[in-house]
Amino acid sequence: MLQERIPDLAKFVEPDRVRKEVYTDPQIFALEMARIHEKVWIYCGHESQVPKAGDYATVQVGRQPMLMVRGKDKLVHVLYNRCPHRGNMMCGDRHGNAGEFFRCSYHAWTFQHDGKLRSIPMMESGYAGTRYGKDNPDCSMKQAARVESYRGFVFASLAADGPTLKEFLGESRIAFDDMCDRAPGGEVEVVPNCFRVIQHSNWKIFLENQLDALHPSVVHQSTGRAAHEVEKDIAKKTGKAPLSYHMLSAFATVTIDKWDNFQTLNYPYGHCILTGYMGLRPKDPDTLAYEKVMHKAYGKERTEEILGVNIHHVLIYPGLSVQSPLQQLRAVRPLGVDKTLTEIWHFRLKGAPEPIYRRSLAYYNLVNSPSTMINADDLENFWKCQQGLTSDGGDWVSFGRFHGRDLEKNGVVETGPNMGTSEAPMRNQMKAWAQYMGNGR
Ligand code: FES
Ligand SMILES: [Fe+2]
Repeated sequence: MLQERIPDLAKFVEPDRVRKEVYTDPQIFALEMARIHEKVWIYCGHESQVPKAGDYATVQVGRQPMLMVRGKDKLVHVLYNRCPHRGNMMCGDRHGNAGEFFRCSYHAWTFQHDGKLRSIPMMESGYAGTRYGKDNPDCSMKQAARVESYRGFVFASLAADGPTLKEFLGESRIAFDDMCDRAPGGEVEVVPNCFRVIQHSNWKIFLENQLDALHPSVVHQSTGRAAHEVEKDIAKKTGKAPLSYHMLSAFATVTIDKWDNFQTLNYPYGHCILTGYMGLRPKDPDTLAYEKVMHKAYGKERTEEILGVNIHHVLIYPGLSVQSPLQQLRAVRPLGVDKTLTEIWHFRLKGAPEPIYRRSLAYYNLVNSPSTMINADDLENFWKCQQGLTSDGGDWVSFGRFHGRDLEKNGVVETGPNMGTSEAPMRNQMKAWAQYMGNGR
């Protein structure tokens, strides 16, 4: 059907612009789920969400309701959240503990943590001579085709073939390395709940916003300015203002022209990095105490290397936006062509003093939570984009800023000097999109 109506999806993506249907057509959305989200490595969760045998967390991968579960073998398995008997969802809660095994709430078929059928009530009398029973794999819960984790971050791919997780992540691995290395203990631990926001816009609009360095000083200016006023006031009275004000005021103090000083790096598979823009190494006693613990764990030189990593944002296409220096990430779960769930998680650095966690929590609440003005201002624009794109007011979305002036080296596209507001990250994402959708090769 789609093939007849849109014979050549390649025509929908040009290097510097994209057709509006890519954001509004439900059939293109269905194709995206099949060719992108249900194929590539999608983030399921962090291993610390399921520390004990039987612990599970439910997660959406593409259109598939899945379960991440810790087995008695200590391994993390990812299964379709579906009973093979009549298709009942196995776990209705977001997370919990299945006990010794999964037990379906409908007719009590039971399964091991890896999904293998354990028992069917009166199996012998009911199924003798039928095709059903322990030896039939169709009687077990289906596993994700591939599961791998990197430094505790668990990903699943629903396709048997494709690059390994490490190959897929490539340079974007720095998101997890940077986050974990900042922990004196070398790893992070999830804060066991997240904010969930449903955006009334296409999933790509959110991702295109993540490294959009042109928008903050427009969209977030009013919030940044108000915070800056208070910050100055406090600084005048007490000599210094808490870092949390800086998290907001940076949106105003980093003016539109200064955003060009930063840089984006654009990698294969649509991944991109935005270099850091906030001063996150103040000389307050909390930071100094943390640095002392880091020195003990890593030595001075390595500590400098770790704390000197200058990134603000890593986008792992098509489902993850990571802010590693502040230990947070947002996972993108498309629900429909104009409906997207984002999960906003944050993490603790193992072995770091409590105030460093408070810093992460402050950013989580002030910048990324559903209650902050920052997030609200973004969401309003996402919704307005979706509305505008459904109109007949134009056919294209433009990604032309600094087009043709990027520097390409070994497959990595760097924005040129003083071109931080380039739309290179969006072009890079759409290039990957076209490749996944089968037209860009
Ligand atoms: S649907 Fe699960 S046991 Fe019947
Ligand atoms: Fe924003």
